[in-house]
Amino acid sequence: MKLKPIFAAMAAVSVFGAAQAAEVEVLHWWTSGGEAKSVAELKKMMEAKGHKWKDFAVAGGGGDAAMTALKARVVSGNPPVAAQIKGPSIQEWAREGALGDISAAATDWDKLLPKVVADVMKYKGKYVAAPVNVHRVNWLWINQDALNKAGGKAPTNFDEFFALADKFKAAGMTAVAHGGQPWQDATVFESVVLGVGGAKFFEDALVKLDAKALDSPTMLKSFDTLAKIKTYIDKDAAGRDWNLATAMVMNGKGGMQFMGDWAKGEFTAANKVAGKDYTCAPAPGTANAYTFNIDSFAMFNVKAADAKKGQADLAASIMSPEFQEVFNLNKGSIPARAGVSKAKFDSCGQKSMADFESTAKSGGLVASFAHGMAVPSATQGAIVDVIAKFMNSTMSSKDAVAALVKASKTK
Ligand code: GAL
Repeated sequence: MKLKPIFAAMAAVSVFGAAQAAEVEVLHWWTSGGEAKSVAELKKMMEAKGHKWKDFAVAGGGGDAAMTALKARVVSGNPPVAAQIKGPSIQEWAREGALGDISAAATDWDKLLPKVVADVMKYKGKYVAAPVNVHRVNWLWINQDALNKAGGKAPTNFDEFFALADKFKAAGMTAVAHGGQPWQDATVFESVVLGVGGAKFFEDALVKLDAKALDSPTMLKSFDTLAKIKTYIDKDAAGRDWNLATAMVMNGKGGMQFMGDWAKGEFTAANKVAGKDYTCAPAPGTANAYTFNIDSFAMFNVKAADAKKGQADLAASIMSPEFQEVFNLNKGSIPARAGVSKAKFDSCGQKSMADFESTAKSGGLVASFAHGMAVPSATQGAIVDVIAKFMNSTMSSKDAVAALVKASKTK
């Protein structure tokens, strides 16, 4: 994303105008059942502090549409007060001068946040964004009834996965529920790379973009595995929203879904219970790894006192233990900060908390490529395009590896 300095200056000036409004306008893309319930908790908290919440919600899982809308607003000189921006994009926006320093509201955050979280929220050592949660991406969601009928054991590797998929197919189900959208294709791809190659290979290939890792037999095998998964996805998957694929697993039309644990927010919103209605299992081969995806709100460069107050209150609300508990219970993620009781979290949530800690020590904790935590947005977009093309064509694994290597050089 390249914003001309003039736009950043306009944004800074124009927010002055916007800051006259008594509203705190916040851009996000949380419009599914579980997502909407979660963000409603933040709205409630901000209104209780006397602010008028202006919900700038842009539908579209994964946030591509929201980022397009955000760029249009900033280019037109009218950015929101805060926006859901994640990973290296935070530093990209900050480098353009579009974000404000909220360190005054973050005086104790270095003590409260794991370093891996705190570092993502800063630009040149100053906090410019507040972390809402930690999502785990490398999950497989399985319909419990169908799993029980197929022997009751979640697959721990791809041989077991395909054996289970065959049983689901034989039972007349769509073995793999999926939404054919580029970000969802990338979500499946990254869990396959993690399962086939392991965390070190994942880090080398999709975080460091190491050419030897990208152009390797392991990456070839990853695409071969993805090609086999494709054969278990139904023909109506193109364009399907992620939460509708989750609903397929919920109602038993679908057997499994590769998806981050925002899918758990949909099960929770439908009063489904982990271990009874569905199983959450690490994606095949990834039990000792954790692809993290941190949602955060970046604060735009505001001048007006009421807008600054709104940002300070937004940051404080987001980091409060109360919000971190109620939001994450609804969202399917885990708290970004220390000091939140795990008592109310279910088995999936508690497993995510335990695995986040253990993989941080073991080296299995890696930044999600598919969800904008690993590489610059332009590079990510080019690589996601290759994966989407592979998913929607007869492109060979060999050609996909070559296209991946080329796309990895996009700046
Ligand atoms: C991710 C985001 C999650 C969830 C998901 C589906 O990028 O971090 O919070 O919204 O998209 O929309």
